[in-house]
Amino acid sequence: MNRTQVIQQIINKKAARSYLEIGVYNAKNFSEIKAWKKIAVDPAFKFTKIKRIKRAFKNVFNIFAKYHEITSDNFFANFKSSKPIDVIFIDGLHTYSQSLRDITNSLNILADNGVVIMHDCNPPHESAALAADSLDHATSLSPPEWTGEWCGDVWKTICDLRSFRDDIKVFVLDCDYGLAIITKGKPCSALALSKKDIAAMNYSDLVKNRASLLNLKDTSHFSTFLDTI
Ligand SMILES: C[S@@+](CC[C@H](N)C(=O)[O-])C[C@H]1O[C@@H](n2cnc3c(N)ncnc32)[C@H](O)[C@@H]1O
Repeated sequence: MNRTQVIQQIINKKAARSYLEIGVYNAKNFSEIKAWKKIAVDPAFKFTKIKRIKRAFKNVFNIFAKYHEITSDNFFANFKSSKPIDVIFIDGLHTYSQSLRDITNSLNILADNGVVIMHDCNPPHESAALAADSLDHATSLSPPEWTGEWCGDVWKTICDLRSFRDDIKVFVLDCDYGLAIITKGKPCSALALSKKDIAAMNYSDLVKNRASLLNLKDTSHFSTFLDTI
């Protein structure tokens, strides 16, 4: 199961009309999604206008898509809509602070029964989990140290949300580098970490307690989740 399948199944189950993607890159995922009101946000799209037009022929929903070539902070600061967004996918800058801000801002514009999905919450190995400030060094290494896969420390945002937000439910599906699924409501399980604890944690802490820190769920849990929305 990959992110596109997970997002589309959520959209279909909810008959969701609006979809926002933060961090779009070449639109590999965005261009596949079928929803009436699609919004793309990225400070540096990696596709041409021609490609955008070609994609509209492949997926009619791309005709109405809106593209904002700006950072997520800029987008959220200026977002004005009479209607909240139904489904939001966060896949922008892979740092703890930015992904936490993206989630917080997303929850403010999310419909009460909406869903936020965040990519890269379950890094498969240590170099994929490097924080942005160690990345320059890592990318100069040869494989196997550096594989090109990068989730950053987005996983810490899951620990943070599960420690500090008592108004959202969070779990991570164990597929496609970890897909967090976030909905509004009372959490079934929580963590009791401080900001200091989270800042001090490293990849070995994640390895020791991966399932409990992330509330990691096997993909078989996804159909159970779909029944709840
Ligand atoms: C991993 S790629 C996105 C991949 C895409 N979502 C997909 O599934 O195919 C990450 C993207 O985040 C964008 N990005 C970086 N900083 C950002 C920011 N502050 N706000 C929004 N997007 C950002 C980058 O330009 C890059 O295109």
